[in-house]
Amino acid sequence: MSVSLSSRHRSDVVARLRAAGCVFAEDEARLLISAALTPADLTAMVDRRAAGLPLEHVLGWAEFCGLRIAVDPGVFVPRRRTEFLVEQAVALVRTTTGGLVRPAAGMLVQPAAGPPPVVVDLCCGSGAVGAAIAAALGRIELHAADIDPAAVACARRNLAAVGGRVYEGDLYQPLPATLRGRVDVLAANVPYVPTEEVGLLPPEARTHEPLLALDGGMDGLDILRRVAAAAPRWLAPGGHLLSETSERQAQRAVEALATSGLTPRVARSDEPNATVIIGTRPALA
Ligand SMILES: C[S@@+](CC[C@H](N)C(=O)[O-])C[C@H]1O[C@@H](n2cnc3c(N)ncnc32)[C@H](O)[C@@H]1O
Repeated sequence: MSVSLSSRHRSDVVARLRAAGCVFAEDEARLLISAALTPADLTAMVDRRAAGLPLEHVLGWAEFCGLRIAVDPGVFVPRRRTEFLVEQAVALVRTTTGGLVRPAAGMLVQPAAGPPPVVVDLCCGSGAVGAAIAAALGRIELHAADIDPAAVACARRNLAAVGGRVYEGDLYQPLPATLRGRVDVLAANVPYVPTEEVGLLPPEARTHEPLLALDGGMDGLDILRRVAAAAPRWLAPGGHLLSETSERQAQRAVEALATSGLTPRVARSDEPNATVIIGTRPALA
């Protein structure tokens, strides 16, 4: 849907967004204009954006790994750098399970024999990570969980089409016990901002995303340590835990994974600037 605007009105929208501090005012104007159903709708959307609401909350969706992920108000907006975690997860599933899947031109390859890979998206927020892994792999058993009811509702909508089941509760607590020892990939993009740095985040995040989605405790790794400590009980032999951190936190995160009995390594990308810690449960001898 889109409203048709004169070039003068279009320029007004761009100018309004630029004056409000939107760096990519032209791109944002294009997206808002194409999303608005009526001129009044557009005015309301521009007002909300100019007042500081994240663009994704105004539009109701974020682009992530080429997908449109619904993002409800108050739900963490998936970040483009997290696409690197998805890439790592997909590559690991392909190599460790011999799995299948959608290599070129959107065509699905015949699934490998046997059960589909089991993927858990822990601290799922909107469910973007799970949705993107499912889109890349085609056939997985997907489970997701979050403690925030708003995130759970949003993830349920995003994951319904791929058959993902979404649970509400603290970390592993709501997951079915039948998953223990069966998880091939545990993607846990947990909150990892150190408490005293939350105040330094851009106002969009500080004001419009829940503190629960951002604050990772004193050094930012409190939740990751809890996830790592229990991960060996949920991972299949040879299964992997993946979690995003900052580059600065990577060494301490590696230590946390090693302490829990996982074999750790760090994957780094400069573009986007992303660090992913990967811990692998040793395969059974
Ligand atoms: C940084 S956001 C990441 C969301 C999503 N994985 C993504 O990448 O877009 C962290 C998420 O962890 C959830 N969370 C925080 N503490 C949690 C806990 N103890 N148990 C489950 N989820 C938790 C928050 O509600 C939030 O949705």
